[in-house]
Amino acid sequence: MKNNLFGKKTEALSQKVKSGHKFLKEKSMSELLEYVGKTIDLPIAKSFDNSFIQKSSRKSNDHFLTGLGLFFITEKGKVILDCTAGHYQMPWGYSSDITNKAIINAMNIGITWDCHSDIPGNPLKALARELVSIVNGFDGLDDPRLDDIVEADNILNRAIVSTCTGTVACAAAFRMAYVYYKNNYSELGAPVFITWQNNYHGTDTFAQAMRGMWPGLFSKDGVEFVQLEANNLEQVKNTFEKYGKRIACFFFEPVMMNNEALLIKDETVKLMRKLTTEVDAMLVVDEIQSCFFVPELMMFRQYDVVPDAVVVGKGMTGGVHGQSATIFKKKFDNLAQFDALSTNGNAPMAGVSALACINAIKENREHLIEVQNLYFNELKKVASEFPELIEKAMGRGLLGGFKFKDREKAIEARELLLREGLWVRVHAYKEHHRTLLMKFALIIEPEIIDFFFNKVREIFKKL
Ligand SMILES: Cc1ncc(COP(=O)(O)O)c(C=O)c1O
Repeated sequence: MKNNLFGKKTEALSQKVKSGHKFLKEKSMSELLEYVGKTIDLPIAKSFDNSFIQKSSRKSNDHFLTGLGLFFITEKGKVILDCTAGHYQMPWGYSSDITNKAIINAMNIGITWDCHSDIPGNPLKALARELVSIVNGFDGLDDPRLDDIVEADNILNRAIVSTCTGTVACAAAFRMAYVYYKNNYSELGAPVFITWQNNYHGTDTFAQAMRGMWPGLFSKDGVEFVQLEANNLEQVKNTFEKYGKRIACFFFEPVMMNNEALLIKDETVKLMRKLTTEVDAMLVVDEIQSCFFVPELMMFRQYDVVPDAVVVGKGMTGGVHGQSATIFKKKFDNLAQFDALSTNGNAPMAGVSALACINAIKENREHLIEVQNLYFNELKKVASEFPELIEKAMGRGLLGGFKFKDREKAIEARELLLREGLWVRVHAYKEHHRTLLMKFALIIEPEIIDFFFNKVREIFKKL
């Protein structure tokens, strides 16, 4: 078949991508670090412009061309060290052999990319089993204990794996909480959904309403949303006293990556678990950001608490085919099939890539612990070296950031780092937000850690 992907631009653009990728492939990590921030020569090829993309997405005048591991090259030829794993979804960086090889093997034995969503094949059924194993701290999908818990009460033993995006998986959990409440407590009035302020649990209208958008769209007779200040134990206690059994659900993210990498503390989660249990409300951990970026695969395993549901997605397939999942206790198994389903969900190859990512994290667990400790300790150290500039280090493990004292300085730091070829993000779109955010891929090594923090020090000295 003729390659005419990009119409008349096909030949020139293909050469450009190929040449950029070859550049990345032929260099070692140390060699690439020397190029970070520099512009390399690439074959001349005119890119497509942005005119057909919606206005709000036209901010940048330089776009992604190709990437490998932690590095990518822009259309203008700039070499970038990606400190945010793409948009936080590629635990193994760009074009990883971990997923590529697993997919090629799978294709060779006849596993297809997609299938009928109604009849998931072995990769997805294996994934459901593996996810249940992980949330229970078992030893993989062959662990015989799995067969003993299928019908157990009060244990995470069901999974919806027919969804692609985090939003749809979160929506599945909201609906389960809603249906459970309606079936058991509807005479008490409208159910109450509790979240932290500045939460982010997806882009559908319900999730957005939970963070205060679309006021008036949901009537208080139908559902009530309550947002609390993160880690404010008094507010949590008062809210449970006020609403009691009207509370259907408490939904939270361990490190709020849309709220300055704010960590929900151990004591907070313990209290949330105690109070939700008392009123028979669903405690849901949104691990869309944290899953597959921690050595335990899911961050809630670092708290000594078992939630009622865990939502995973984003990085689970290593940036290949979108796949999300909701793992929950049997008593919440109350949705019809089409209540939580994406047409492209249940795709065999998404299952293959997720299983490959799980195996790779398990195989590298000790190394990941070591490197993540090194990284986070260094983050805290650098924060303490600049007391005039930095309020504190935020987050945990690879999900972290520098909270600045001054918002403008945070924005300036991001600009300067970007100019130097370090792709970080800044949370400054709300008035009180002032945090530089990073979420490196798992393949970060001590050499990268040194390079990154030395550059950060250089920039911080200039501010
Ligand atoms: C914590 C959290 N929940 C849910 C979502 C929604 O996931 P998706 O963009 O795959 O719909 C995101 C996305 O950034 C997220 O960070």
